[in-house]
Amino acid sequence: MPSITAIIGAQWGDEGKGKLVDILSSSHDIIVRSGGGANAGHTIIRDGKKYVFHLLPSGMLSPHTIGIIGNGCVVHLPSLMQEMNQLESLGLSIKNRILISERAHLLFDFHRTIDTIQEERKGKNLIGTTKRGIGPCYSDKISRNGIRAIDAVCLEKLSKKLTQTAQRVQEEWNISIDIDSEMQCYIDSLDFLQSSVIDTAAYLFDAYIQNKNILLEGAQAFMLDIDFGTYPFVTSSSIGVGGMAVGSGIAPQRITEVIGVIKAYCTRVGSGAFPSELSGEMGDILRATGGEYGATTGRPRRCGWVDVVALNAFVKVNAPNAWNVTKLDVLDDFEKIGIVVAYEIDNKRIEYFPSDSDMLEKVVPVIEYFDGWKQMISTILHWDDLPQNAKIFLQAIEQKTGVLVKYIGVGAGNDQNIVR
Ligand code: GDP
Ligand code: IMO
Ligand code: MG
Repeated sequence: MPSITAIIGAQWGDEGKGKLVDILSSSHDIIVRSGGGANAGHTIIRDGKKYVFHLLPSGMLSPHTIGIIGNGCVVHLPSLMQEMNQLESLGLSIKNRILISERAHLLFDFHRTIDTIQEERKGKNLIGTTKRGIGPCYSDKISRNGIRAIDAVCLEKLSKKLTQTAQRVQEEWNISIDIDSEMQCYIDSLDFLQSSVIDTAAYLFDAYIQNKNILLEGAQAFMLDIDFGTYPFVTSSSIGVGGMAVGSGIAPQRITEVIGVIKAYCTRVGSGAFPSELSGEMGDILRATGGEYGATTGRPRRCGWVDVVALNAFVKVNAPNAWNVTKLDVLDDFEKIGIVVAYEIDNKRIEYFPSDSDMLEKVVPVIEYFDGWKQMISTILHWDDLPQNAKIFLQAIEQKTGVLVKYIGVGAGNDQNIVR
């Protein structure tokens, strides 16, 4: 039986999904991005070198893998070409290992312009998007105005569709669209597109039948999910395991393992409720110690404690088989480490994650504190060698979520990972 493993962020993003994908890529044949676009930033430290992936699957550093950009993704071709060229300039062969779904939607420069306008119009209620055009491109998809990768393998067809779209967008948004400039990258990349754009769902079905192991690489995270996240301060795609099935075209019952990725604390970039946020000195210490600055936009990340109320919302919808707890080493010097175990609203204790974002803004976290281990753990390779207090902290997460901790990150390097 082939394995299909899904790796999903269970907090607000940047949990360290890329690192686990890189680690597991050696035992998988195909790595699939099933949603989102270049709003993601997945960092890998391999042999001391740093790589940041945005739309390309992070498993591409393993030379045998095939990378798929699935039907659920939105593709800004100029950024993708740049990302591939950058990796190829380091001596990696990428373009002949990338396949793009015919059904993936194309994201154009004008989507980015609209993203910026929408954020400006929201004023102080802005979402704090990555301004990569994600929302506007998914809006075109859902309103059935989108242009898809299959349209780009014939330049005449693409030009016709873009001209029609430009007319509509110019009327709706009062912005001018430079069609020649939007077309240029498609003209330059035609050979690549004609060889890479295929029916990836059919490809994945054949690969499954041939016993290939498939890794589904989550992007963004469940608390940013369009349905289950802190709406409206979310991204525009479906992050959970259900969304991954749709976004790749893999039948959900074939997914063999779901791994939720969480930091040993928690971060968020952009606006919206963040119940466990530490706004004072403790938050600053976490940001500095964890190097919490966005891989895509460079923005400082908001920091807080791990929040099991939010994690349990993830558990209910995604039924993870295991956790990957990352960045445990960041807490090495902490005297006390918090876990948010419940919320209080109007002096009433609740243990569920509210759908109402106004209510979420008002909740007060109930925090349970654990003693720190006050010891450097970044060279530890086995569970048994972890300090007792680190084990107690991890076991508390297990016990409060009912999910085992299988992988533990003790440093950014892809060898700094304990498998239990
Ligand atoms: P992703 O978007 O989920 O792939 O995560 P990002 O790459 O945006 O952010 C995670 C950051 O933490 C990156 O800079 C990683 O190199 C780093 N990282 C991942 N795992 C660990 C870990 O266990 N310890 C430390 N110190 N850093 C880690
Ligand atoms: P990875 O895959 C962290 C956040 C943005 C913003 C909201 C909407 O690296 O974990 P968008 O541009 O998607 O319309 O922005 O979602 N966001 C992320 N935050 N990590 C990400 O990806 C994110 N992708 C989107 O900051 O709050
Ligand atoms: Mg990231």
